[in-house]
Amino acid sequence: MDIYYMNNVSVPWHRAVITVDQFARADIDEIFALAARLSVGRTMPLTGKSIVNLFYEPSTRTSSSFHAAMSRLGGSVIPINEVNYSSVTKGETLEDTIRTLESYTDAIVLRHYDEGATERAVSVASVPIINAGNGAGEHPTQALLDLYTIFKERGGIDGLNVTLMGDLKHGRTVHSLIKLLRMYDVKIRLVSPPELCLPKPYLCKGDTERINLESLIDDTDILYVTRVQKERFADELAIDISYSVTRSDMDRAKENLVLMHPLPRVGEIPTELDNDPRSAYFRQVRYGLHVRMALLVAMIGRD
Ligand code: NCD
Repeated sequence: MDIYYMNNVSVPWHRAVITVDQFARADIDEIFALAARLSVGRTMPLTGKSIVNLFYEPSTRTSSSFHAAMSRLGGSVIPINEVNYSSVTKGETLEDTIRTLESYTDAIVLRHYDEGATERAVSVASVPIINAGNGAGEHPTQALLDLYTIFKERGGIDGLNVTLMGDLKHGRTVHSLIKLLRMYDVKIRLVSPPELCLPKPYLCKGDTERINLESLIDDTDILYVTRVQKERFADELAIDISYSVTRSDMDRAKENLVLMHPLPRVGEIPTELDNDPRSAYFRQVRYGLHVRMALLVAMIGRD
């Protein structure tokens, strides 16, 4: 297990998922094996357990997939998906909300617009916190399911050419995924409009950076596309930026390309590509359910 420190105290991922930095390859192997086992099993190891879904930002997939995962494992969910209807609107702090909810539950799944929110929650909570997206920071459970999708679709991760395309500046799924990918022997290529390129801390020597897909599509194994995260822009600049994968890109691409997207898409992948067997984005959703089942069992199913 990789050691992640918060205020000089190590936080293992079983106690709180804050960042993908907490995972070593052996942990990932363990989670993937458990995900595969749970995807075919009929056991209910979380009977009597519950989680709170505490979402300060919109979500369709992440909150419903944690919900579905928990239900399939026999547990229950307290959904607070619309904090606008909670005491947050009365001015309650995140810390007080966490300290209240922990009395009712075994873990809290938290999505928040503040990049520091997960650590703030972890520092007051006595139950595990799972980061379901901290602003433009990270989205570790999405990255694990993205990696699992690659693993399931291609049978392994080493040796692949992975092209990440879109809003690499604000896309938290990319920030987490790129760190996981660097634990493997993969070539990373980055495609983005110049204003949306990958921030320096995530860049490595040897990455290829381009402003379009043209020169990279032919030998790409995994094409991972994201939308412009317009809610992270201070101004209206984002409205003018658009890009998309085209039918002719797909005609040039490998027969065993895997086309991925964390969703929602807003035009980056036209619906006419949905029937292409290489389009994996809805299978990715399914893999996500299994990975989140595995995380929940590993974190709260062990006593
Ligand atoms: C992503 C997110 O919230 O960061 N969505 C998701 O969890 N699948 C991607 C996005 O919103 O573009």
